[in-house]
Amino acid sequence: MNTWSPDSWRQKPISQVPDYPDPAKLAATEKQLSTFPPLVFAGEARELTAQLADVARGEAFLLQGGDCAESFAEHGADHIRDFFRVFLQMAIVLTHGAGKPVVKVGRIAGQFAKPRSSDTETIGGVTLPSYRGDIVNDIGFTAEARMPDPERLLLAYRQSAATLNLIRAFATGGYANLARVHEWTMGFMKDSTAYPRFEEVAHKIDDAIDFMRALGLTPENTPSLRETRFYTSHEALLLGYEEAMTRRDSITSEFYATSGHMLWIGDRTRQPDAAHVEYFSGIRNPIGIKCGPSLTDDDLMRLLDRLNPKDEPGRITLICRFGSDKVKEHLPRVIEAVQGEGRTVVWCTDPMHGNTVKAANGYKTRPFDKVLSEVHSFFQVHRQMGTYAGGIHIEMTGDDVTECVGGGVSAVTEASLQDRYHTYCDPRLNASQALELAFLVAEEIRAQRPKRQAVSGF
Ligand code: PEP
Ligand code: CO
Repeated sequence: MNTWSPDSWRQKPISQVPDYPDPAKLAATEKQLSTFPPLVFAGEARELTAQLADVARGEAFLLQGGDCAESFAEHGADHIRDFFRVFLQMAIVLTHGAGKPVVKVGRIAGQFAKPRSSDTETIGGVTLPSYRGDIVNDIGFTAEARMPDPERLLLAYRQSAATLNLIRAFATGGYANLARVHEWTMGFMKDSTAYPRFEEVAHKIDDAIDFMRALGLTPENTPSLRETRFYTSHEALLLGYEEAMTRRDSITSEFYATSGHMLWIGDRTRQPDAAHVEYFSGIRNPIGIKCGPSLTDDDLMRLLDRLNPKDEPGRITLICRFGSDKVKEHLPRVIEAVQGEGRTVVWCTDPMHGNTVKAANGYKTRPFDKVLSEVHSFFQVHRQMGTYAGGIHIEMTGDDVTECVGGGVSAVTEASLQDRYHTYCDPRLNASQALELAFLVAEEIRAQRPKRQAVSGF
């Protein structure tokens, strides 16, 4: 018997819930939100599922990335544009290097709610509720700032709408035109080791565009040369918000989350019988599942049975975040379990969340070497096991921040972390680190490509 409804999660045990002082106000706000227009459409989510099915078949590659947490304070056009152009640079490096279409999914336009390892935070003997993302409370360390406020749901919704609007304009309004590849480089990136390599790729694309122009295919008459498809994603943690944004598709009569194209379940909320999995089981969007070291094979199979009973390709992306020193221990068993049951998934690596450390000066950071090493091991294991490493999921920004140590000629050191440490939650790759990573991934994808058959004659 199917007893699912957008609010059936309310009957299940739940973790990571904010403690709102005024539940009636929360309920009224959620009700208001449920009358607002959807941010994305069911048809777009279906299109993304189809593209992810191509990834599952080894015919495309998934690039997913963006802020750890979006913030209300950093909501300028420049911030969004700078993210978008580094993201496009990464995508072009991957497309060019791998010779495959890249499915572009941002952690953006809805990535506000954060799971925390502790409900409270203590500084200098004062204990307050933890910061749970701008959609819940404020990062400032005062009792007032940390009080969850339902009004923030509406602010997050409106910010998501504005961000999505700008991104849609960038994606289809000329900014993503391949004839403009050179314009995507930012001044400070000229110091990056990846910069000359990017210029080289950009020149090759220029040549390819000239060649196609000679054949009559131009960005003006060929939409795929001047536009791109860009999708949004976030962790669906705050289920009251998600419920309010869940709508029935008028074409198929099925339920879709309209807060973003793809939603994922975090490593802390993926218990098969709990509230988050209940919610995800009824929506038809493509779904990510974060897979950390504590995920048992048994739980993974229960999750796949529950969330993708018909084994539809593109529905499930396993976002593996084991840590650079644990990936070789856990990834093979997880692959074996999935293969053993004949399940279809997209294999994606998140080389960020298993590699977080505290620097001596107290800053939370991630050594860039460890990030690269986890990516390398992820591809290596897949090559050995004959499976397709299909994607990468990262926390990144287009800004010149100093949050992850290492990378490039002007490497970030522990001492320089304090210079431009702006993240609202976890440390992100800066623009040059992100681009450097893209080149490494392009090489790894090439290495897993089957060798071309030798063809005799012309
Ligand atoms: C995240 O992606 O920001 C996150 C909290 O990840 P995880 O659930 O894998 O820890
Ligand atoms: Co994070």
